[in-house]
Amino acid sequence: MNPETLQQHLQAMWLDYLQLNPQARLIHGLFRSRNPELVNDHIALRTFDLPEVDLNHLARPFQLAGYDFAGEYHFPDKHLYARHLQHPDRQLPKIFISQLITAELGAVNNALVHKLISQIPASVRAGEGFCYSGRHWELSWREYQQLLAESEYAAWVAAFGFRPNHFTLFVNALQSHTSIAAVNTFLTSRGVQLNTAGGAIKGSPEVGLEQSSTLASRVPVTFSDGIHHIPGCYYEFASRFPLADGELYQGFVTDSANQIFHSTDSRQGR
Ligand code: NI
Repeated sequence: MNPETLQQHLQAMWLDYLQLNPQARLIHGLFRSRNPELVNDHIALRTFDLPEVDLNHLARPFQLAGYDFAGEYHFPDKHLYARHLQHPDRQLPKIFISQLITAELGAVNNALVHKLISQIPASVRAGEGFCYSGRHWELSWREYQQLLAESEYAAWVAAFGFRPNHFTLFVNALQSHTSIAAVNTFLTSRGVQLNTAGGAIKGSPEVGLEQSSTLASRVPVTFSDGIHHIPGCYYEFASRFPLADGELYQGFVTDSANQIFHSTDSRQGR
């Protein structure tokens, strides 16, 4: 990915995301019709920490397109580590990449993850569109359940592969709504279900960032032994505030992100 093809890749990621999250098209439309322009705050990617597919591997094409690593985040209870990249052009979305610390899974799931990743052709891994290339392995419903019992995150990546987990509407750039609370009220009135883990609004002006997100809708996924409906992608909303230096905070807040991860958890709100 170079600066010239970056927009093409971002657009391809958006289309892949819409395909897996039809609700996003509806939500995007609700805001698009009320605002001259919508800004995407960040795109989130999920992966495993195996070197062939880890955070650094997913980040490389974005670095070639002018992005730089910024903040890093630890989620010990979910066995996750994350970093975000940002571009000097603030109109471009930040890229938030998390990875599962695979070695912290039990032996059976650890071996399963290695088996899945080993099936990705090297040519696919090397492609600059790898981060939205989807799934490259067969997975049984039993294997999915076995991962789910230990890590909802691992089960999601195993079921969907490499694709954007969420896009994020930048609330500051909206003319129609001036706060996350107003966005949430509007969405709820339209029948959209929000992730309420840790409260509908995560974060605060004091930490520089308020976020909310929808609950991922269930989508049909083909397993080796049949089709099952499981939570796919969700839409996130972010409102940024200036910190002491007067600059709008550009990072993320670990406690908030920790709750946002629950947006794909089928055990919540159903
Ligand atoms: Ni996010």
